[in-house]
Amino acid sequence: MPLAIDARGLRKRFGSDDVLAGLDLAVPVGTIFALLGPNGAGKTTTINILTTLVRPDEGTASVAGHDVGSHPDEVRRRISLTGQSAAVDEVLSGTENLVMLGRLSGLSARRARTRAAELLERFDLADAAGRRVGTYSGGMRRRLDLALSLVVPVPVIFLDEPTTGLDARSRQELWSVIRSLADDGATVFLTTQYLEEADRLADRIAVLDRGRIVAEGTADELKARIGGEVVQLRDGAGAVVAELPTDGTVHGLRAAVEQVDRLPASADPGATVAIRRPSLDDVFLAITGRDAASDTEDQAEPGRRSELQEAK
Ligand SMILES: Nc1ncnc2c1ncn2[C@@H]1O[C@H](COP(=O)(O)OP(=O)(O)O)[C@@H](O)[C@H]1O
Ligand SMILES: [Mg+2]
Repeated sequence: MPLAIDARGLRKRFGSDDVLAGLDLAVPVGTIFALLGPNGAGKTTTINILTTLVRPDEGTASVAGHDVGSHPDEVRRRISLTGQSAAVDEVLSGTENLVMLGRLSGLSARRARTRAAELLERFDLADAAGRRVGTYSGGMRRRLDLALSLVVPVPVIFLDEPTTGLDARSRQELWSVIRSLADDGATVFLTTQYLEEADRLADRIAVLDRGRIVAEGTADELKARIGGEVVQLRDGAGAVVAELPTDGTVHGLRAAVEQVDRLPASADPGATVAIRRPSLDDVFLAITGRDAASDTEDQAEPGRRSELQEAK
């Protein structure tokens, strides 16, 4: 399959910090790729390099068939970027924002209006088309942002933490929009701190930790790296009081259940045992020895860390 994004050996330093320490990325055309990592991992820096906003200190990248260093204009014509900063005018309506950007992008007045209507329909904003953007919810605004970045259709779409700060429902609405972009043939490169988001959306996931890719594969491949199901003990109120990872074998599961049976909380007459599939959170912990949310190794349980390091 041809590659929409092909990056080799990307390095970036800020001061004495190796923010990116040699990144390789290969994203086939028409797929969704998630770069998953905690705050400060280097996700935005990666996106900035791939979208020609920042030059790498070392390495090369081609996006939509053009080199970001030698042909940035060719790259820019073929990509869109939606991120933290939005060019949305609060006083204007959704339609007005889109028409204005369409005109600025060189569309005729008629074409800009048609395109605005298409995009509002597509991103489920038709009902709010005439309302001032200042009255939009966070999820609606995020969808308008995305629509604005696609006034001129492009083959490669970059989304920097598209759903950060949104509630569960808005997040799911955005997910379905993002999926539909890929269904239509676009390549989507997104960054996220949400393990579930990468799991739900992406064909392939790379886990970024302190400027290095520490794992890459499909969600299932990543999950497979830490073995099998996790045995949970819940107390009478339904709260999880213990979780034991297993290797997924009958013997492993039985041993975990026996271990759970010896915990004081299991004496609670309402206590229950459940078995769940490993999550990407487990994967992150297994690979890096730290919780995805925590930034310091000290917060990982020492016992768990060594056990997981053996599994590496
Ligand atoms: N322009 C800059 N100057 C100095 N340090 C920077 C700059 N941009 C990013 N960094 C640092 O690089 C690291 C990675 O940042 P970033 O790529 O924004 O991570 P993420 O998007 O994963 O949160 C952070 O430690 C951040 O402070
Ligand atoms: Mg960022």
